[in-house]
Amino acid sequence: MKKVLITGCSKGIGYETCKLFYENDWKVYGTCTTERGINKLEKEFPNGIFYNYNFLYTDVCEFISRVNIKKICFDLIINNAAIKYDLENTFKLNVDTPFIFMEQFPKSKFINIISDIVNINHPNLPEYKASKHALDGLSKSFRAKGMRVSCVYPGLTNTTFNKRKGGMNPKEVAKAIYFVAISKHDIDLYIGNE
Ligand SMILES: NC(=O)c1ccc[n+]([C@@H]2O[C@H](COP(=O)([O-])OP(=O)(O)OC[C@H]3O[C@@H](n4cnc5c(N)ncnc54)[C@H](OP(=O)(O)O)[C@@H]3O)[C@@H](O)[C@H]2O)c1
Repeated sequence: MKKVLITGCSKGIGYETCKLFYENDWKVYGTCTTERGINKLEKEFPNGIFYNYNFLYTDVCEFISRVNIKKICFDLIINNAAIKYDLENTFKLNVDTPFIFMEQFPKSKFINIISDIVNINHPNLPEYKASKHALDGLSKSFRAKGMRVSCVYPGLTNTTFNKRKGGMNPKEVAKAIYFVAISKHDIDLYIGNE
């Protein structure tokens, strides 16, 4: 059974991705930041393994050693959790966290969830946009070093991440992520408005 670790799978794109991999018989490992989220995930996906960790407060290396996952050979790690707060916190979750996962699990394939904002000259959210550019750059560098890294760039998606309503159903993004996961090559995929 293939193993996937997904950060931020209590809701939105991460949740739908978790569901899709679970339904396709992957062993799913996931994270979120609330006990309520964990209870919901454990009830819905009884064979999954879920961890309640907030990467703004717990260093990823500490998380990896505390839950003893270093020895698990994840086939795939999906860096999905992200926020759009101030510069320091946004970079901590959106950049440092995926960076450490890529450093710690060099044998796993990675899918990093970026955003189509990297191609839009958006007047707002400079911290978020910068963090996604940074993750994009890191992804390409790790790939150039020989690691298997793909990027998915969703357009506006209908989750609680946005105050603005509309956009794609997160199930559509989950399908795109799954397509990239089972693809033989390390492809990058834009999905959505652009
Ligand atoms: N929605 C869009 O329009 C859109 C467009 C382009 C790209 N994206 C990208 O797609 C990804 C998923 O977005 P989404 O819309 O599904 O977001 P979402 O609905 O807000 O879900 C975010 C997930 O990240 C987790 N998370 C938040 N803060 C965390 C922290 N400090 N530590 C660990 N986990 C944390 C949340 O867990 P808790 O709920 O337990 O806190 C939740 O499971 C992100 O990378 C986002 O940048 C989204």
